[in-house]
Order: sequence, then structure tokens, then C-alpha cells
Amino acid sequence: PTMLFYLLLVFQANANAQIDPAHCRYPLGMEDGRIQDHAITASSQWYETTGPQYARLNREEGDGAWCPAGLLQPSDTQYLQVDLGQLTFLTVVGTQGRYARNSGKEFARMYRLNYSHDGQLWRSWKNRLGNKEREVANDNAYVSVIKDLHPPIISRYVRLIPVTKMPTTVCMRLELYGCPWHDGLTSYSSPEGQLMMPPGYPIASLNDSTYDGAHERRKLSGGLGQLTDGVIGQDDFLVTRQYHVWPGYDYVGWRNGSLGSGYVEMEFVFDKQRNFTSMKVHSNNMFYRGVKIFSSVSCSFKPRLIATWEAEPVEFRTVLDDRNPSARYVTVPLGRRNAKALRCRFHFADVWMMFSEISFQSGRRGSREISTESSMPTTHKTVTNPSAKDQPDDGNTPILIGCLVTIILLLVVIIFLILWCQYVCKVLEKAPRRILEEEVTVRLSSSSDTIILQTPPVPPRVSQMDHPYERVFLLDPQYQDPAGLRNKLPELSRSAETSACGGGYAEPDVTQCTPHQCFQSSVPHYAETDIVSLQGVTGSNMYAVPALTVDSLTRKDISVAEFPRHRLLFREKLGEGQFGEVHLCEAEGLPEFLGEGAPLPDRDGRPVLVAVKQLRADATNNARNDFLKEIKIMSRLNDPNIIQLLCVCVSSDPLCMVTEYMDNGDLNMFLSQREMESTLTHANNIPAVSLSDLLHMSVQISSGMRYLASLNFVHRDLATRNCLLDRRLTIKIADFGMSRNLYSSDYYRIQGRAVLPIRWMAWESILLGKFTTASDVWAFGVTLWEIFTLCKEQPYSLLSDEQVIENTGEFFRNQGRQIFLFAPLLCPPSLFELMMRCWDRDIADRPTFEGLYQALRPHVVQ
Ligand SMILES: *[C@@H]1O[C@H](CO)[C@@H](O)[C@H](O)[C@H]1NC(C)=O
Ligand SMILES: *[C@@H]1O[C@H](CO)[C@@H](O)[C@H](O)[C@H]1NC(C)=O
Ligand SMILES: *[C@@H]1O[C@H](CO)[C@@H](O)[C@H](O)[C@H]1NC(C)=O
Ligand SMILES: *[C@@H]1O[C@H](CO)[C@@H](O)[C@H](O)[C@H]1NC(C)=O
Repeated sequence: PTMLFYLLLVFQANANAQIDPAHCRYPLGMEDGRIQDHAITASSQWYETTGPQYARLNREEGDGAWCPAGLLQPSDTQYLQVDLGQLTFLTVVGTQGRYARNSGKEFARMYRLNYSHDGQLWRSWKNRLGNKEREVANDNAYVSVIKDLHPPIISRYVRLIPVTKMPTTVCMRLELYGCPWHDGLTSYSSPEGQLMMPPGYPIASLNDSTYDGAHERRKLSGGLGQLTDGVIGQDDFLVTRQYHVWPGYDYVGWRNGSLGSGYVEMEFVFDKQRNFTSMKVHSNNMFYRGVKIFSSVSCSFKPRLIATWEAEPVEFRTVLDDRNPSARYVTVPLGRRNAKALRCRFHFADVWMMFSEISFQSGRRGSREISTESSMPTTHKTVTNPSAKDQPDDGNTPILIGCLVTIILLLVVIIFLILWCQYVCKVLEKAPRRILEEEVTVRLSSSSDTIILQTPPVPPRVSQMDHPYERVFLLDPQYQDPAGLRNKLPELSRSAETSACGGGYAEPDVTQCTPHQCFQSSVPHYAETDIVSLQGVTGSNMYAVPALTVDSLTRKDISVAEFPRHRLLFREKLGEGQFGEVHLCEAEGLPEFLGEGAPLPDRDGRPVLVAVKQLRADATNNARNDFLKEIKIMSRLNDPNIIQLLCVCVSSDPLCMVTEYMDNGDLNMFLSQREMESTLTHANNIPAVSLSDLLHMSVQISSGMRYLASLNFVHRDLATRNCLLDRRLTIKIADFGMSRNLYSSDYYRIQGRAVLPIRWMAWESILLGKFTTASDVWAFGVTLWEIFTLCKEQPYSLLSDEQVIENTGEFFRNQGRQIFLFAPLLCPPSLFELMMRCWDRDIADRPTFEGLYQALRPHVVQ
């Protein structure tokens, strides 16, 4: 499975990337000034000093924000307009009020968005359910609120329109996030999508529900919609990626016969003339429900909008597939024709045809933009005969074939290795489980993009002791599927009884290390017990924990009290995962309910806020069981630096667990909005933190982790985004990170499924799928680094995800070519040394959390 992981990497590196909303989230330049003052305009301004050019997030120039003239009335339309200079795929909007060194207090609670390709024709942004209003922009003058746009916007001009229910003054600062829209598509037209009403199935509504153009006489024209929103439909078109929408949402679909022509005709208009290499159409192929990819397509070209279609269309015939019902991208070569508009006719291969996404590749590889010379109107009609069958010079095809051959070869090697390992294991009369030992050599050859794993023919060592943690392979289907993990349990307990082959990795140095170093592996009473693994079903991390029977841990099955559900008042959604959501709620009467000594923060008469993790009502039974297990495990954790489970609602659906809520948000957000106290040159009165604050934070995290380590818990996702903070800067470690949209760039996705925080992961976790307390120590080192860079930068921000994984290979080879994180400017050298020790290649040489705690604590001035 580890190898598969690489195969996918190879594949991903070569596949021509489509726009991926999860990665297309770069700040577009309000804060850092790349968007220049003249590109920011407004309907009005109160004073010179509150002009539109001051509407920059986290900046304090002028009077600290843009404010429109006068009191904003409910009927008013005032706007702030940004010209992004080019077509842009916008995914996130961040807003903030006017702080102005603590003298401002104006902010907008709500806003709408308008956008335009040309600055003339404006459209209103609507969410997936058709509402225009964006809730809760801000509720104070300083915290920036960053919200995803679902669906994203493709445009060049954006207007932010503050909305109010009562006359008030509003002031705003803004940042936009996204990336350039290289496709250049400005509109498409198509017949409207249809309803599928088969007996015995739910009705699938295959309309283009986010289309922003005209809808007349059963035809859509002049806009963009679901086919360009970056959301790819699933294999089963009834299953949707968005929640709370209808079956069939992700697809636009048509029925043959209803159109009277046997094909669907679509027209595509672009921003300028482009030289097209290919078109990719993501299409459903659920053939046993009468849905197939198109049988053929013919595309005509037009060099200018006012022109006739060129005579020779490009034809492309697909290879139909009625074995594999997976949805897929179909790549249509377009023969490098120049055009500003395209008209494609997709011919039906079955009763239904469904698309979820269409993208275009134009220009040369690398620079997709066509220079102005080549975009001059040309009359190059006589391109070589574009008969698709004998002209597969798409450029991608050889690479794809190469990939497939590599994959097949590697699969053969894998099968051979598995057979070989089983043979060796049998010879040694050991359980046949292991493939990789510490001698595995990993060769990551960056030039050819292939990765070969070799195991030298040495019999696996018999380890001194079994490693007490389960090894979960990345990308093992079970990693994502809690049910699969449970099935693994009996086998795990067996493998714990036997040794060597089944027992996990063998660390040769274990016997030589000092007792201190041995801390995390010397937990003898765990060595023979079952290890239960569990994925937080609400989309969070996995824990490897000792089985429920371990003596030192058994405090019966700790029961948490059932809280009356109706007393949880919903305030805000904090995040969502695959199986559930996290809400911010007010809990009425919770202190009385929990009684004396309840671990609640100081309230000063304010209502008690709690975080409520809630399982979706339609979650599978397995997810339910795992949710209950997660409750059991959480209920055992009791440490001042670990988030505490307060109560639950499990007597009826949906199942909920109620945990503390920390009102300063997470550490990442907190620090990234702050400056160092000692930075005297900083004139702005941005809230500051001192070195001793940072040390205090570090000590608290090490203390919480020390506690987890003492229980043999492996957190697997320690990072500042998972540390929550209250008003007194008390830190509690939690695990909500993965359910948050904002941090999705911190996780590496494989086909949109597995989410791995690779920039925080130790080399052995990435390469061998091994998660231990020692890999948590590695993550702690990265967390320290984040703290001392004030979270202004992502770890290895200059490396792409693929390069980070390559760097991991360098750690493994240990030939001095690995790249370490640099020493943060403000970080005392002794502390950086400590970080470097956390990133030691040898697991046994890394410090323990106890050691880290002892090393950090003396620095904190009480
Ligand atoms: C926003 O767009 C709508 C059209 O959808 C238009 O009626 C309205 O005037 C626009 N408002 C502004 C401020 O551009
Ligand atoms: C699409 O279909 C859904 C469900 O039938 C309906 O609620 C929605 O209004 C439709 N949207 C458009 C834009 O036609
Ligand atoms: C689609 O419908 C046309 C008539 O409208 C018919 O000639 C053609 O055979 C149909 N194609 C398929 C694949 O059913
Ligand atoms: C498109 O670009 C390729 C080179 O990238 C060139 O060979 C071809 O002639 C161009 N096509 C047209 C119609 O200009």
C-alpha cells in the first residue's frame, strides 16, 4: 500500500491538473499590496482617510479601513470594488472591521457579493441553495472572518456590498483568496439539465443549479455554473459531495430523445483567442443505470465571436466501457486549433449522459497563456487533418502509457515481494504480515518520477520486544474506513502474541538507549495487549490506544452524563467532516448540570459556549459505533491541557459529544494575527505577544502531550491548528483541524480522499505508515517552529507537497541532502536545537515529551 501511495504520486505529478478548489486558496494581494490602490474603488467614502485603498485585511493604514459615506441604511447599496486584473477563480473571502489601533469599532455583520467579467454586466453571487446573503461577516472590529465561497466565483471584478438590518456605520477590510483561471472560459451554453425519474430510485435532479447566465426556452446561455466549479461528481451520480442538496446535484445530465437530435450541443466562449490542446470532460459512466460517457464528440472552432464556424470540425470517438462504472475524465484532443469560441456536439452512447466538470487546456505546456502575437487573428484553417484516430499527439498519451506500464511493473514487483515475504515468514514460522523492515531501501529518483522500493534478502530480525503500536498503512483502504479497522482487530491481537513478522517494526537501538530515551517504547505492560485503532468519525484524527482492558487504564467504562439536547442552542458551524459537523452552541444551565468542580472556564455571567461534535443522522452503523468509542476514549482524558469532554447526547439521534469551547480560537489563527512585542519598528498597534508567552504556550503543549504519551495515546495530528486557546492563553490540545475548511492546504489529498498532514509528519509516518509517540514528537518540533514563526508561514512553504514527500526520502537515506526547517528569527538557539532533536532521523534519539517538558519549563517566567 505504501507503494501504491507513490504510484498515485507519480500519476498525480504527470496528470494535467484540473483546478482544485482545495488548493486554489492563495491570498490575491489586498493585504500584501499586489492589488494596487487604483484597482480598489468604492461607491463612496466617508473621508479621504477611509477611502477604498485602506480596505486591506490586517493593515492599519489611513484610518484603518474603508467606510462608505454616512450611516448605512437597510435600503442602501454601497460597495467596495476590486479589479483583480485577470480572470480569477475565487474560493475564499476574508473580511475584518476597522480596528485602527483600538479606536475603531465599526464592522459589517453581513455582506453580499457581485462579480463581473468585464466591469459592465454584474451578477449576484448565490450560495448552493440560492441565497445571496453571506451571514455573519464580522462581529467585532479586529478578528478577520474567512469564509469559503460555495460555489466559487470566476471573474475579474468583485464587489463587496455590506448589508445591514438597522442604520449603522460600517467599515470593512478585505482579502480575496483564489488562483488565476487559466482555462479562460467566460461562458458556456447548453440545453438545461433534466429530471431522471426511474421507478424504484430517488428522483435525480440533473439541472445546472449554480448557472449564472440566462435560462430561456430550455436553454442556458451566457454564464458559468456547475461545470466549472471544480467539484467532480462521484461514481454514483445519486451520491453528492455537497451536503443538504438533492440526489444528482453534482451532475448536469440529459436524456437522449428529449433533445430530438441524438447529441447535446454546447458552446464555449473564451476571454481571448487561444490555441487549444485538449478539453477534459468529467463524465459519469454508471452504465447499469443507462448512463454512459459520450460515444463521440465533434467540435467546431470560431476565431472571433462574430464569424462563422470553421469548416473542418475536430472529431473524436471514445472507447466505450461497459465494465467499469467509475466516473472519469475523458480527454478530447483539440488539435492545437486557434479559436475564441468552440461548439461541441456530444453524441449519446446510451439513454443518459451526465457531466460534472469541463476544463480546457490551451497554449504551450508550462505557460498556458498565449502570447499576444499568437493570439492575433489568424486564418490558419489548414491544420493537418484532425482525424482523431490517427493523431493522438496529445502530449499526455505517452506519459499516461508510461505511467500504466510503470504501474503494471510495480504491481508485479509488489506481488513478488508479498509472495517472497510470505515464504520467508513461513520459513521462520512467524505470522506473515510484514514487508518492510528498517532495511528497506527507498529510492526516490526525481528525474524519472518513478519510485522503486527494494527489500534486501535479509531475514527479518526478531525484535527484542513488540512495538506497542499498530501500524496503519497510508492509503490502506482501511485507513479511511473505520469498519475495516475494526475487522483488523482480531488479527492484531494474534499478531501481538506472535512476534517478529507480525509485531511491527524492530528498533535495533532499543536495548542500548538510556532509560530516559526508552521512555516512549518502554511501556512493558502494553506490549502484550491489544491495540485498538480508531478514526475520529467526525473527520478528525486517529488514535492508537491501548485496549480497554489494560489495568492501569480501566476506570470502569467512564460514563459521561447525558445532556438534554434542547438546551443546546446553535450559534455557528465551526466545521464539518465526512460523517459529521462541529457546531458552536450555547449550553443552557450546563454549570448547574455538571455540578461543583466542573471544568468550565470563567464565564463572568456570559452564557457557556461549548463545541458540539455531531454525527450526521444518516451515518452508517459503523460510524455510529466508532463515534461511541471515540466518546469512551475522550471521556478518559483528563488533563488541563487536553480538551475535555463535558457531556453527550446519545439517547437519540443525532449523536453528539459536547466539549469545551475555547474563545480565543486556535493557536494558528491567534498567532498569525499577532506581532512580536520586541518588533519596535512596527508602528501599527497590532496585538503583540512576548517571547515568554510563546514559551508558556510551548510548555503547555508539551505538558498535554506528556499526558497523552503516558497513556500511550498517539495523537497523529499535532499542530497549532489543533491547539485551542482561551482568554488567559491556556492551551488545550484538540483535534478539530481536519474538519475545517480553512486549513485544507495543510493536508495532502490523494484523489480528494485521504487527508494527511504531511508537513507535520515524521519520515517514518509518511514512508512506513508508522505513527508513534516519537512521530508525535516530530510533529511537536514542527508545532514549536510554527509558534516561533508566529504561524506566518506554512512549514516548508517553498516546497510543493510532492517535494515535501521527496524530502522525506532524503531523511530516510540520510545522506545529508534533507532540507530542515530554518531557524525562526526570534527563536533562541537552544530552542532551535531542541526542535532539531525532535526531527532526528533515529527514532530512539528523539527526546520524549517528558524530556521536552523538563527542558522547556525552566524558561517560563512565572
Ligand atoms: C449586483 O448584481 C445585481 C444583478 O444580479 C444587480 O441588480 C445589482 O444592481 C448589483 N449591485 C451592485 C452594487 O453592483
Ligand atoms: C434544480 O433542481 C432542484 C431540485 O429539483 C430545484 O430545487 C432547483 O430550484 C433547481 N434549480 C434551478 C436553477 O433550476
Ligand atoms: C438517441 O436518440 C436518437 C433519436 O432521437 C436515436 O436515433 C439514437 O439511436 C439514440 N441513441 C441511443 C444511443 O439511444
Ligand atoms: C498552436 O501552437 C503550436 C505550438 O505550441 C503550433 O505548432 C501551432 O501551429 C499553433 N496552432 C495555431 C493554429 O496557431
